[in-house]
Amino acid sequence: MQCTDKIRLTEYIEKNMTERRKVHIYAVAEEAKKLAQRYGADMEKAEIAALFHDLFRGMPIKKINEYVKQLGLDDYYLDNANLAHGKIAALIMERDYQIKDHDMLNAVRYHTTGRVNMSKLEKIIYLADAIEPNRNYAGIEHIRNVADQDLEQACLLSLKHSIQFIKDKGSLLDRDTVMARDSLIEEINNNKKGEEA
Ligand SMILES: [Fe+2]
Ligand SMILES: [Fe+2]
Repeated sequence: MQCTDKIRLTEYIEKNMTERRKVHIYAVAEEAKKLAQRYGADMEKAEIAALFHDLFRGMPIKKINEYVKQLGLDDYYLDNANLAHGKIAALIMERDYQIKDHDMLNAVRYHTTGRVNMSKLEKIIYLADAIEPNRNYAGIEHIRNVADQDLEQACLLSLKHSIQFIKDKGSLLDRDTVMARDSLIEEINNNKKGEEA
């Protein structure tokens, strides 16, 4: 991403995001950079993806719905800011900031749900969003501890936590989240087999 675009992005965040959201976005960026360094991913990509991830979080639903239509997203995302905000952010990154890196786009696109066969960067953004220092929920310390040791296990714990949380709330569980969990379990098992062989 060009330097001028990064300035434009930061200015957008400063102007449009609430104080609470700003604190979260910058904290996710720091956490993502830390995880990227720890697990050998591109720190710059992690930071930029994190700065974009919640750009459309907290936007009035009327505006979200306008974006869903304008950008040609499926009707499934209408009236669903929780699932739509990452999809919109990824399309705006591409359209207005000329970001073509599929890994960065997917990290933003799937940061709420996860998905099957997540890349390292996707896992980092998913996890950074869930464990940044301002987050507080039962079990988070355990996930943070595991995140220091094992990216896949920490991601799996976080996905399981989300699935339980969504079920308890009676909210809509996106099938990408279930597929993300199942595919991570498979990945972890395959890694174990690889180590034993
Ligand atoms: Fe989000
Ligand atoms: Fe977030």
